[in-house]
Amino acid sequence: MSRIESLLRAMTLEEKLGQLNLVTAGQVATGPIVPGETTQDIRAGLVGGVFNLWGPDVVARTQRLAVEETRLGVPLIFGLDILHGYRTIFPVPLAETGAFDPLLWERTARASALEAACEGIHLSFAPMLDVSRDPRWGRIAEGPGEDPFVGSKFAQAKIRGFQGERLSDRGALAATAKHFCAGGAATAGRDYAAVDVSERMLHEVYLPPFRAAVEAGCAAIMSAFNNVNGVPMTSHDKLLNGYLRRKLDFDGVIMSDYTAVTELVEHGVAADLVEAAALALTAGVDMDMVSGAYLRCLPEALARGLVAEADIDAAVARVLRLKERLGLFDDPYRFATPPAEGVQEAHRQLALDAARRAITLLSNRGILPLAADVRRIAVIGPLADARADMLGPWSAAGAAENCVTILEGLKAALMAFEIIHCAGVSIEGDDESGIEQARALARDVDVVVLCLGESASMSGEAASRATPGLPGKQRQLAERIIATGAPTIALLSCGRPLTAPWLFEQAQAVLATWLLGDMAGRAIADVLTGRFNPCARLAVTWPRDVGQVPIFYASRSTGRPPDANNFYSSKYLDCPVEPQFPFGHGLSFARVTLTNLRINRLEFTLGDEVEARVDARNESEVATEETIFLFLHDVTARVARPLMELKAWAKVALEPGKSKTVAFTLTAESFSFPGDDMEPMFEPGAFDILVGLSADRKNLLTASLRMIST
Ligand code: BGC
Repeated sequence: MSRIESLLRAMTLEEKLGQLNLVTAGQVATGPIVPGETTQDIRAGLVGGVFNLWGPDVVARTQRLAVEETRLGVPLIFGLDILHGYRTIFPVPLAETGAFDPLLWERTARASALEAACEGIHLSFAPMLDVSRDPRWGRIAEGPGEDPFVGSKFAQAKIRGFQGERLSDRGALAATAKHFCAGGAATAGRDYAAVDVSERMLHEVYLPPFRAAVEAGCAAIMSAFNNVNGVPMTSHDKLLNGYLRRKLDFDGVIMSDYTAVTELVEHGVAADLVEAAALALTAGVDMDMVSGAYLRCLPEALARGLVAEADIDAAVARVLRLKERLGLFDDPYRFATPPAEGVQEAHRQLALDAARRAITLLSNRGILPLAADVRRIAVIGPLADARADMLGPWSAAGAAENCVTILEGLKAALMAFEIIHCAGVSIEGDDESGIEQARALARDVDVVVLCLGESASMSGEAASRATPGLPGKQRQLAERIIATGAPTIALLSCGRPLTAPWLFEQAQAVLATWLLGDMAGRAIADVLTGRFNPCARLAVTWPRDVGQVPIFYASRSTGRPPDANNFYSSKYLDCPVEPQFPFGHGLSFARVTLTNLRINRLEFTLGDEVEARVDARNESEVATEETIFLFLHDVTARVARPLMELKAWAKVALEPGKSKTVAFTLTAESFSFPGDDMEPMFEPGAFDILVGLSADRKNLLTASLRMIST
C-alpha cells in the first residue's frame, strides 16, 4: 500500500479535512484577517498548509508542531505570494513581460525560488496568468499583459523557473497558476466583478496560458474570485473538473482564493456555508484558503448527502501527493538551509538586468540619451524619491531599504552633474503649493527629469481605477514645468498604462518605468545616460483614453472597418480609434529597418514546415537588441479570425551598421483555431504573415500563403 493510501486509511474525517485547510499566519495581510487559533489547530491536525509566514526559524518551529505533535505527523506545506521576487524584488510582471525574454522570466523565478526555499517556503502563489486588456484593472500589473501567446510562454518560463527539474530538488518551489480564470475581463475593470465572456473568448484568450501551465507540469492552480458567465470559479465544475481535470488531465492541487469558498454565499449560488463547501469541493477545489468552510461544514455536507467521502479522499490524496512530490515526508525541514555566499549579490545584478530590460522608451524627440554637455538636472515629481513605491504591489519579504530610488540612481550615475530635487506635489493629494518651487528649479537647469505616476498600492489587488491617468495634481505640475521651456523627460512609475495624451505631446521624451523593484533607480539612470540601450516592448496596448478600453491589437474586423472618410464606419466621434501606442511598441536609441520578408512556400498542407525570413538592419551608430514580431491573419474562415494573432517573436542583437536574417518557423498549431466544439480546427484558405517591430499595422511587412487540403 502506498504511503498516501495508508495515511488516508489512518485518518479521521477531521484529519482529512485538516489537510484541505489552508490558513494564513498573518505575517502579512493579503485579505481580511480571519481569526484563528492557528497553533492549536495545527497541533490538532486541522491544518494542511500555512501561508504568509516565512523565515527558517519560525517555519521550522511551526512545522515541528505538525510533524512532532500531531497524531499522524503529516508535514505542513508553506506558501507565499512570490509574484516578482522574494527578498530581491524584480520588476512587476507586466513590466518584466515587456522584455519578451523567456530566459529572463525563468531566471527571475529561479532566483526567487532559491531565496524563498531557503527560508522555508514550499509553494508560490504564482505565476499570475490573467490575460487582461483593461488598464482599469489594477491586477493587470501582476500578469503577462494582453496576449494569450505571450501569456503561454510566460507561464512555461515561470514554471520552469520556480519548479526546476523536480519539485524535490533543493531550491525548487511548487508553482500555482492563478487565477483560473478570466479575471482580467472583470466588468468595467472592477476587481472581483462578474465576468461575461463567450466560450470562444475563453478558449482563444483566457485559457491558453493555463493550458501551457498544465503542460509545463505546474503543481497547483488557484481558482479565481470572479464568476464566469454567472458561475463563480470556486464552484465552476465545467471549467475545474471538466476542463482542467478531464480535458487537460491536471492531477495537481486546485486551491480556492482567499475566503472564496465562503463567498459563494455572497455570489448567490449557495444558501449557506455547508452548500458553499459542498459546491466548491465537488467542482474540484481541493484546498480551502482561509475560509475554514471545509473544516467546519463538510461533515454536515456529508450528512446531507451533498458530498461523498470519496470526493474528500480524492482531494486529500492530491494534497498529500503534492507534499510527497516536494519531498516533505522525507525531510519536512529540508529547505531551511541558508543561501550560499554571493547569491544575494548575483540576484541584485539580475534585478538590475531585469529592470533595465523592462524600461519602455515610449517617445523620444532626440533628448535621450542625455547629451554630454548636460550639467544641471532638476529631478522633480512625487515618484523621484519614493523608495517603498519602487517595490510594487507584491513585495513578499522584500524591503524598501533595499530599493534604489530614481533620485539616488541618478545622483550615483551622474556624479559630475549638479542634481537638484523637489517633489512639487504628492502622488494623490490636492495641494498645489509646491509647484512654484518646482518651476523655479526648472528654470535654471539643462534638463528636467519629471518623475510621475502611481504609488505601489494603486495597482495590484483591489486597486482598480476608473480613470487610469495621472492621479492628484501631477498633470498640473507637469504642464507648468513644461511651460517653463525646460527640456523635459517624463518617467512614468506605474502598474498599468496611464492615459495622458497631453504628456506625450508636450514632453521631449516619455518612458514607462513601471514599478521596477530594488534596482529601479540604477536601471533608470543607465537608460537615461545611454549606458544601457532600452529594449522593452509593451506587452499591453497603451490607450489614449479610458473610453477606448478594452483595447487590444488582436481585435476582429467589422463589416464597417474604421475609415476616416466614411461616417458610417466603426470609430468614435471624439477620439481616434488608434491607441496611444500599439502592443509591442518600444523605442531604442538605434534605428532598425526590416526588409525582404519571404516565406519558403506559397502553398502548404498540414505537416509542411512554414518558414518566414526577414532581414533586419541596424541603420544607426548604436548596438541594439530588437524584438521582431510575427503575426498571422487567417483571411477568410468560417468564424472570423482576429486581424492579427501573435505566433512568434525573435530577439536579435545588431551591431551598428550590421544586418542579420531572422527566421521564424510556424507549426501546424499556428494555423489552427477553435472550431464550434472549441477543439482546434484547420481550414484551408489564405493566410497573411505580418512581420514588424510592433503591432502597428501601418508598419508591417506582409507575405501571403495558402493552406491547401491534402
Ligand atoms: C489574492 C491571491 C493571493 C491570495 C493569498 C488573494 O486575495 O487574490 O492572488 O494569492 O490572496 O495571498
